Amino acid sequence: MLGNGEFDVQVGEDGIEVWVTQMGSMMNMNTAWIDRESGTVAIVDPFDSERWVKALATEGLHPTHLLYTHSHRDHTAGFPEMLRLVPDVEVWGHHEAIHKSFLGRFVFGNISLTDEWTHEANSTIEWSAGGINLSITHSPGHAPGHCTIHGHGVYHAGDLLFTASSGRVDLPGSDPTAQWKSILFARDLLRTLPSDWRLIPGHRYDWIDGSTPDWVSVSEVLAHNYALNARELDSF
Ligand SMILES: [Fe+2]
Repeated sequence: MLGNGEFDVQVGEDGIEVWVTQMGSMMNMNTAWIDRESGTVAIVDPFDSERWVKALATEGLHPTHLLYTHSHRDHTAGFPEMLRLVPDVEVWGHHEAIHKSFLGRFVFGNISLTDEWTHEANSTIEWSAGGINLSITHSPGHAPGHCTIHGHGVYHAGDLLFTASSGRVDLPGSDPTAQWKSILFARDLLRTLPSDWRLIPGHRYDWIDGSTPDWVSVSEVLAHNYALNARELDSF
């Protein structure tokens, strides 16, 4: 199990590195895809930016892209510091993730996107930078504009799915019906991925046996995640 701010590094056969860490009291999981050849570093929802920048600097790297699954405060916590440390970083997220309702002020953090995804719910687009090729699936419900991001052996689920459960749908901007549709779409998508790919959840919560793994495999999540195995909206 990863300690707070500890990094797991795995290198794929294609040379793309995947760094995964867990940070903060809510055990936020961050994933980064790194292509050393082009110097590309794309980080999902960086929580503690100083820690990220320091760890990357020891390897002669720095963040080039931030990819946001959604804009809840705990996922955008690292944004101001990242912008201070790396002012020219590209900031990507879905257009609908920027939420401006009154109640939303307590739930959503302030980020400014340099580039927006605008695709429909439950559709996937391809995103590339350097040698990194990712699929971005718009999966709203937990939060507007929520996206999952997968590629190079990893499916980063954000708060759509945790290892054993799914994200809450009782917050301002949440939509239980949309979440259910996103879960059904994710189930079909996960079935197309290699079974040994890792599902990285947005938060590290308990698994079905009471352990708290940093991730589970695609085959494990398909077999045991209760939302992916629910039969109808009411039971997820
Ligand atoms: Fe969230």
